[in-house]
Amino acid sequence: MPLSVEQLASWSREGFVVLPGFVPESEVATLRDRISELVAGFAASSEEAATVFSTTEQTHAQEHYFLSSGDLIRAFFEDGAFDADGNLQVPMNRALNKLGHAMHDLDPVFDRFSRTLELAELVSDLGFTEPLLLQSMVIFKPPHIGGEVICHCDHSFLWTEPQTVAGLWFALDDATVDNGCLWVVPGGHHQPARTRFRLDGTGTTTDVINPVPYDIDSLVPVEVNAGTLIAFSGLLPHWSAPNTSKNPRLAYTLHVIDGTADYLEDNWLQRGPSLPLRGFT
Ligand code: FE2
Repeated sequence: MPLSVEQLASWSREGFVVLPGFVPESEVATLRDRISELVAGFAASSEEAATVFSTTEQTHAQEHYFLSSGDLIRAFFEDGAFDADGNLQVPMNRALNKLGHAMHDLDPVFDRFSRTLELAELVSDLGFTEPLLLQSMVIFKPPHIGGEVICHCDHSFLWTEPQTVAGLWFALDDATVDNGCLWVVPGGHHQPARTRFRLDGTGTTTDVINPVPYDIDSLVPVEVNAGTLIAFSGLLPHWSAPNTSKNPRLAYTLHVIDGTADYLEDNWLQRGPSLPLRGFT
């Protein structure tokens, strides 16, 4: 269904739009089941991840693991999930931070979910002319463990000239203040990005464009039910709190850029020639 005049006005004015019930219950269940299967697969073959995440001193290994995940599906773990010998300290369903970053191209269930006609129409309504599906993540935010994500805008990490990136955030659980829902600064997308995270030849660096921190007092919570889609501008400042509750807060996110813009060669997320970016077809 096309976005209404009010929803498009909200997108322009506030930098985000909330679409309750965008994902049918049966589809939420399908994604949750698929995630369980993927997690079970990682549990059976997590040796590489166990090595990489077994100690916080493995900074270089963790950076390489992250930087080479743009065209893979990799599992990322919460701090302290493994002991120094690579043994899991908590059950797998409480140890995972996220899966990323090419779920939408490599997993048939997520590929189909990410390339529906409804989503293509929504992205067209948001102004994209040559949409490309850049990045996807399953974000676990497990009960009592899921950590804070500091206030940032996604353009800082997925830079195009001009800025085109938009985030599509699908709630697979009810998301509340208690379990770490998304918070946003309404209208904050009218300001330029304050930082840029990029490759610097040996690793990564963060350029500070504007040292003034985001006004976190302006953040407002976006509490939503499972099945809701929150679409937000790549310039919209957003944040999420730790999950201090006993409830999980599972989400799937997809980031879209426009092929008419330049995707910079020193963005952290790069793909090999075997998996070029694709749109909705
Ligand atoms: Fe983000």
